[in-house]
Amino acid sequence: MQIVFIGLPGAGKGTQAARIVEEYGIRHLSTGDMFRAAVAEGTPLGLKAKTFMDQGQLVPDDVTIGIVRETLAKPEYRKGFLLDGFPRTVPQAEALDDILASLSLALDHVIYLEVSRETLVERLTGRRVCRKCGASYHVAFRPPARAGVCDLCGGELYQRSDDSAETVGKRLDVNLRQVDALLDYYETKGLVRRVNGEAPIDEVYRQIQDVLRGRPQ
Ligand code: AP5
Ligand code: MG
Ligand code: ZN
Repeated sequence: MQIVFIGLPGAGKGTQAARIVEEYGIRHLSTGDMFRAAVAEGTPLGLKAKTFMDQGQLVPDDVTIGIVRETLAKPEYRKGFLLDGFPRTVPQAEALDDILASLSLALDHVIYLEVSRETLVERLTGRRVCRKCGASYHVAFRPPARAGVCDLCGGELYQRSDDSAETVGKRLDVNLRQVDALLDYYETKGLVRRVNGEAPIDEVYRQIQDVLRGRPQ
């Protein structure tokens, strides 16, 4: 199974992806998580990505496409994968088609998590992330049992540097400019399934399961 999640920053891609990949035994590929790991390790990729991420801008397509191409070629991705936050531009979507063709694969579903801008700002500014395992929490909508501590692994929770009030607005604007063209690209292929991402986490999950099981929405 090959799935793409499209959604603006804060739409719930990471939250839902964690549950889906667990249930279906497929790999989770988040380009944002990969860039953050590279930044934390101080690799050349990380140094390059950081300047764009800190400003809420997209990392250039050639860099992003390169790491996805490399990753998807790995044998552990043959059981299926969920792409979270890639593609984000039409050139990335075209490149993904080439990559999939070279691996004799095709996409099964493109799931769009629809959420209003107002909700997104609230979600992003209240998000906390586990430094150890990457799990996402929210101070109001999904608080951990113990403040500042991950329920899953006991790791420390922190606020992403791009979740500051100033950067959040920028990220939303930058991504809004891309998302319609990206949806058009996949609409013509008949792949887009829209999910109401505004609903509570469990309800969004049920909607996604319906899509994956081929149930009418
Ligand atoms: P990335 O890490 O992908 O960030 P993003 O797209 O901005 O999305 P987020 O991770 O912020 O949101 P999410 O949809 O995963 O939401 P989450 O589940 O955490 O990318 C970061 C940066 O890397 C980009 O800005 C760019 O610079 C670069 N980059 C990455 N990919 C790229 C690409 N393809 N091309 C170029 N550059 C790229 O949920 C958010 C919060 O809401 C959490 O607190 C969560 O608990 C809460 N929440 C989730 N669902 C619900 C719900 N249903 N109800 C209530 N609360 C909820
Ligand atoms: Mg995410
Ligand atoms: Zn954790």
